[in-house]
Amino acid sequence: MSTIAPDADPAADAAVRGDDRRHVFHSWSAQALIDPLPVAGGAGATFWDYAGRSYLDFSSQLVNLNLGHQHPDLVAAIQEQAGRLATIQPSMANDTRGELARRISEISPDGFSKVFFTNGGADANENAVRMARLVTGKRKVLAMYRSYHGNTSTAITLTGDPRRWANEPADASVVHFFGPYAYRSPFHADSPEQEAERALAHLEQTIILEGASTIGAIIIESVVGTNGVLIPPPGYLPGVRELCDRYGIVYIADEVMVGFGRLGTWWGFENFDVVPDLITFAKGVNSGYVPLGGVVVSDRIAAHFDTVSFPGGLTYSGHPLACAPGIATFEVFRRDGILERVRDLGERVVRPRLEQMAARHPSVGEVRGLGLFWAIELVRDRQTRAPLVPFNAAGADAAPMAAFAAACKKAGLWPFTHFNRVHVAPPLIVSEDDLVRGLDIIDRALEVTDAEVAS
Ligand SMILES: Cc1ncc(COP(=O)(O)O)c(C=O)c1O
Repeated sequence: MSTIAPDADPAADAAVRGDDRRHVFHSWSAQALIDPLPVAGGAGATFWDYAGRSYLDFSSQLVNLNLGHQHPDLVAAIQEQAGRLATIQPSMANDTRGELARRISEISPDGFSKVFFTNGGADANENAVRMARLVTGKRKVLAMYRSYHGNTSTAITLTGDPRRWANEPADASVVHFFGPYAYRSPFHADSPEQEAERALAHLEQTIILEGASTIGAIIIESVVGTNGVLIPPPGYLPGVRELCDRYGIVYIADEVMVGFGRLGTWWGFENFDVVPDLITFAKGVNSGYVPLGGVVVSDRIAAHFDTVSFPGGLTYSGHPLACAPGIATFEVFRRDGILERVRDLGERVVRPRLEQMAARHPSVGEVRGLGLFWAIELVRDRQTRAPLVPFNAAGADAAPMAAFAAACKKAGLWPFTHFNRVHVAPPLIVSEDDLVRGLDIIDRALEVTDAEVAS
């Protein structure tokens, strides 16, 4: 869907900006150093500001807007639910909550019958860890460097990126390990097979040295999201499963970013021939129209809580206004063949085009991805693979990435950039024309980073 933004409205722009700057305390920011874009509206894969500019959203907001802005079916589902029963507390049974739980269970592997609903991804991970600790009686949790699991106390400690640093120590029982990252192999591997093998050997050593008798869970993003669209090499996740079985550890798959279609499958782990013990989700379950997340619980773990009380809960767990667009999401996915179109667009349109960009632009080191989830890794030198900007770059150090993002925005594309990477993550309903248009814009904007490399 391409949409023309309404005319500029400078008065509204100033009013929205003014209230925001005076009264809204923003996430992850030095408050005086930011300039949030006032957004007036959106439709499909596009949103627009009050200055008459529209943006094709190649970031799906925070990689949650899988069905795009203002999807009529999701909006209608919320409206219908609001007119019928706007809220109900979690200890009562509710038709909408129950139906969504059943549908989520139906798309999950056999033996995953139950869903614990949360308000978002962080508290999904928080509660998954809580379950694992209670079931195993073991407290330690292993998580990857280069990961993001949310901002609540255990979830931010699990996180393997700089967002954790200022929050430490929040949960003393978390240990980080290196996951596979073939392009910048921490194991000096030179093939995906070797990367998987060595990453598993490292994980096993970590388990042994930390003490298997102390480790309750391992949490892994099935494809690492914000920290790089890192696709696990063949055999890695099944190997993790095997280690978890051998050492009595619960395997938690964090599917918050890749679940619900981002990779062209309901769950990301389906691509890697593995079944975890707990599945956490949020974002795509209802495209974030109303906050919702949760844990899909394997029957083995759920059975533990048949007679033992689960010591966790949230006032809004399974909120009907959030579950209603979740049910509508299932309907839209089936009716519109969303999973099939994601696989088709990813392989037929995105992959070849990004590979062309990799061949053409000296600043592109690698492109990788699956479905509608891709990364372009930018480098100063293709031989040494020196990143275009340093890890955790900010301010002047990040200028080349800021210049790239500015070129995209000027051309009408809202990009996702993180450190030295550009991620391609448009809404799953993006039209083929818009997808190609967005890739064209990125292709041209890469001339800015090429010039940086040449200078
Ligand atoms: C993989 C992953 N896990 C957890 C979270 C946290 O989700 P939320 O922001 O809904 O708490 C995110 C958010 O980006 C995520 O990408």
